[in-house]
Parts: sequence; structure tokens; C-alpha cells
Amino acid sequence: MTSIRQALESDHRRLEALLEKAMAPRDRIDELAYRELRAGLLRHIGIEEKILLARARHRLGAPLSRARQLRIEHGAIASLLVPTPDHALLRELAALLADHDAVEEGEEGVYAECEAILEDERESILEAIRNYPVPRLNPHYDGPNTHRTAREALAASARQRFRE
Ligand SMILES: [Fe+2]
Ligand SMILES: [Fe+2]
Repeated sequence: MTSIRQALESDHRRLEALLEKAMAPRDRIDELAYRELRAGLLRHIGIEEKILLARARHRLGAPLSRARQLRIEHGAIASLLVPTPDHALLRELAALLADHDAVEEGEEGVYAECEAILEDERESILEAIRNYPVPRLNPHYDGPNTHRTAREALAASARQRFRE
């Protein structure tokens, strides 16, 4: 039986492999791999926010203690997907994802925490994950207020959350 944790951790591995593939050519970005990564990451974040964190919050009557930090990081990850990618940008994304995914994975991670809270909803959650749509991608934007480092992206995302 697949657990929610297994499903989402294996999606992390899939996305890591795509990121590696996107960065593999020395002189360019593998566009096909990058496009799949971009769509896959936005979908993955959507699943976590709209299904997992949302249902845990509903069940508990309050957000998980680590939800706010995860949402800030999701905002930062999504913002690094806005500008046209190069190797430096994708290295920033890789570093941010490594830290972020570590908080979600493992025995003490947020996935396991959600799984325990939502044990009796497992089948319906796995079904909702399977059916979650791939988002439509906007063209890249390189104008003002775009971020190319994890640090900048995190700071901007935290400011945004603070205003909400
Ligand atoms: Fe996440
Ligand atoms: Fe994740």
C-alpha cells in the first residue's frame, strides 16, 4: 500500500532527476527537462498546499506549526521558476529544494506528520493527488521584482506572507 509520504517523496526524487537533467548540458539548459520540472514543481506545491496542508489544517482547526515556513519556501521556489533559467539560477533552486524537501521527508518530516493526522483519509488523499492537474505555464518574465537567488526569493516571499 502506498503511503502519502512515499508518493510525495518519490515525486521529490523524480523532480531532482529532472533538475539534474536540465543542468546536464554544460553550455545550455535542457529545455524539455526544465519544462517538465517547472510544471512538476508547481503541481507538487499545489498538491501540498491545496490538499495536504489544507486538510491537515481543517482537521486540526489550526495550521501545522511548520506550515508557514513551508508556504514561504513554496513561494520562493515558485518565484525562482519565473525568470529565464540559467545554470546559476538552477543551482540556487537545487539548494533551496534540498533544504525544503528535508523538512518534509523522513520519520520526523511534515509528510509523516500529515499522514498521522489524516490516516483515515489516506485513500481519498492519494486519489486527489493522482487527479491533481498539471498547471498551465506562463511565459518567463525577467523584469523588475524577479529573483535569481534563493536568499532574495525567500526574503521576498516572507515579506509577502507577512502582508497577508
Ligand atoms: Fe513543499
Ligand atoms: Fe514536497
